[in-house]
Amino acid sequence: MRQSATNRFCVIACSTLLLLLTILSPAARGQEETVCIQCHGPQPGKGGAPVKAWRGSIHADNGISCHSCHGGDPNDAANAMSPARGFVGTPQEAGIPAFCGRCHAGIMEDYLKSAHGRALGKGGPTCVTCHGAHEVKKANLELINEKSCSRCHPYDRAAGIKEAMRQTEGLITDIERKIERFKGEGVDTERHEKSLFSLRNRYHRLFHEVDTAKVKRESSHIQQELNTINQTLENLDERNRRRKIAGAMVVGGLLVAALIAHLLKRTYDD
Ligand code: HEC
Ligand code: HEC
Ligand code: HEC
Ligand code: HEC
Ligand code: HEC
Repeated sequence: MRQSATNRFCVIACSTLLLLLTILSPAARGQEETVCIQCHGPQPGKGGAPVKAWRGSIHADNGISCHSCHGGDPNDAANAMSPARGFVGTPQEAGIPAFCGRCHAGIMEDYLKSAHGRALGKGGPTCVTCHGAHEVKKANLELINEKSCSRCHPYDRAAGIKEAMRQTEGLITDIERKIERFKGEGVDTERHEKSLFSLRNRYHRLFHEVDTAKVKRESSHIQQELNTINQTLENLDERNRRRKIAGAMVVGGLLVAALIAHLLKRTYDD
């Protein structure tokens, strides 16, 4: 009897431990310890630096590892970097857009059309000039800054694009907050979420062409549509407010009626 209780305790303790290990292990967080990471991690200098930079990147968080970009065999240390196992090595500068564009096709297309893409290999920036290769973070407008964008030309053309985009981004954030609040109150916001989603995507497709006139034109269309959503949400807010006031008035009215009834009753009773 005692024996089986101890056994049962062991089974429960061991499974809990295993479960914890699984949850906490790098593999479970999409950061599987491949042979690439095991061998490169401890290397000094250029061999190990990519591993440190990659940890904490948006790619690591989404399970995009060394072999997803460089190819090769992540499970066989002896043949990991063999071309026969799909290893493609490090891209030349002119090959970087296609290297990243395998997964970011729409952005590569916009980039190749742009003044930047046309200057590829002739002093124009590539994807890694702005995003880095291993330390890639979630993108936002802070990537447009004086230090990064005045390396090759005056900053004012960058500032123009940033200003046009910032207004739109502000509106998007505003509407996101409103929708969150309405959802918390149980209002059906699905239709608005869908329109916001597609407008947000259209907005995030604007940058890589670096065509200031187009950004301004498109931004103003997008802002018009965002304002329509915003207006609908505001009307909804106003209706809720009126409903609350009406509710409060009904309750107040009932209270007053009850009080009068009470007073009348007392007068009659006296
Ligand atoms: C998102 C794609 C991507 C991922 C993921 C990635 N790399 Fe890279 N890696 C690149 C690119 C692009 C370059 C070339 C950078 C350049 O030319 O500036 C590069 C360059 C390198 C180099 C050459 C560095 C040098 O200075 O010569 C090594 C070594 C390397 N990567 C190893 C790794 C290892 C190890 C991992 C996994 C921890 C990894 N990479 C993950 C895209 C990636
Ligand atoms: C057993 C150790 C070891 C393993 C496993 C390993 N590498 Fe390497 N790797 C090295 C060394 C050492 C170098 C530098 C020497 C050289 O350039 O040949 C290197 C160089 C590189 C480079 C830069 C040079 C080039 O050819 O572009 C990249 C990129 C790279 N490794 C990616 C990977 C990827 C991806 C994996 C897993 C699929 C991997 N490595 C697995 C040891 C390893
Ligand atoms: C094997 C596929 C793959 C390759 C190759 C790849 N990425 Fe990614 N990238 C992803 C995935 C998956 C995400 C995360 C989901 C998302 O946001 O799209 C991501 C996210 C990003 C983001 C953040 C997007 C955001 O929402 O803010 C940037 C920036 C980015 N990648 C740049 C690059 C650059 C630069 C390269 C080349 C050095 C590259 N990627 C190569 C798959 C890839
Ligand atoms: C001149 C600098 C620059 C270059 C070159 C560049 N990007 Fe970007 N990228 C940015 C900026 C700035 C943003 C943020 C724009 C925004 O907030 O909409 C961004 C956003 C992104 C995003 C996120 C888009 C989204 O939907 O949120 C991805 C993915 C990305 N870039 C990948 C790439 C790839 C792949 C290349 C090469 C083909 C590239 N970038 C070239 C500056 C650059
Ligand atoms: C590595 C160099 C380099 C960097 C860094 C760079 N650019 Fe450029 N940019 C160029 C070149 C080259 C051109 C095209 C030739 C010209 O107009 O000077 C250009 C052109 C432009 C144009 C004009 C496009 C047109 O169609 O007239 C804009 C806008 C621009 N860049 C914005 C930016 C922004 C924003 C950043 C920072 C996120 C940036 N650039 C970073 C090299 C660079």
